[in-house]
Amino acid sequence: MSQAHRPLREQTALVTGASSGIGAAVARALAAAGAALAVNYSGQREPAERLADEIVQGGGQALSIQADVSDEQAVERMMRETVERFGRLDILVANAGLQRDAAFVDMTLADWQRVIDVNLTGQFLCCRAAVRQFLQQADRPELSRARGKIICMSSVHEIIPWAGHVNYAASKGGVLMLMKSLAQELAPQRIRVNGIAPGAIRTPINRAAWETDEALQRLLALIPHGRIGEPEDIGKAAVWLASDDSDYVNGASLFVDGGMTLYPGFEDNG
Ligand code: BGC
Repeated sequence: MSQAHRPLREQTALVTGASSGIGAAVARALAAAGAALAVNYSGQREPAERLADEIVQGGGQALSIQADVSDEQAVERMMRETVERFGRLDILVANAGLQRDAAFVDMTLADWQRVIDVNLTGQFLCCRAAVRQFLQQADRPELSRARGKIICMSSVHEIIPWAGHVNYAASKGGVLMLMKSLAQELAPQRIRVNGIAPGAIRTPINRAAWETDEALQRLLALIPHGRIGEPEDIGKAAVWLASDDSDYVNGASLFVDGGMTLYPGFEDNG
């Protein structure tokens, strides 16, 4: 593994929902920046194990851990396994998330509940477990100015309303205030909590929006930058937010969206 720029060397990171999409890219990027990786997955064991192997083959350290982030006991176990293996936790990327889309009138309570459970309660449980760990382990200011770093994976839909996806948008609006309130509460202990709000990133969650040319053209009308995002775009942002390069950044939501939140529909209207 390159010795070039390894701002996360000797640090341990846990990335939830890391078997595919944004989570996998974030795990790869953090590992390339020198972190030991706990690669969490819920249902997709093989890709998570392959990713952990890939990191190890590249000279890094990694362990795949199954846990449904909405299950309190499972989250506690995941944290124990991470600390048993790597000795500590420095970085949490609370990334696991899903969509259960439906028109509002047809949305079942189960559709609502599952999205809130995973996207919002899951972040609560993972953040709480991480903060408890940060506070009980030795501080190492020579490696990280902050005592611990949390990145909450949100979405442009923390601020952009989204018809047909009210459960998802509500969960991400919740993530925004979870992140900011936590940042305020924990800043005195030098724990930094920030968010990343991705726009349309090419992952399995939104395949229907990019897999045909027609769908992609419709999507691109919402993106001033003129291209769909790639998971690596988010990986780079995560490395920065996890490292001392962003030490003075706390409670921020970093939009990585090619300008989607610039509301391009207003460019020649309104
Ligand atoms: C959603 C994607 C969507 C994107 C932009 C994300 O949070 O998961 O399905 O393409 O926001 O609308």
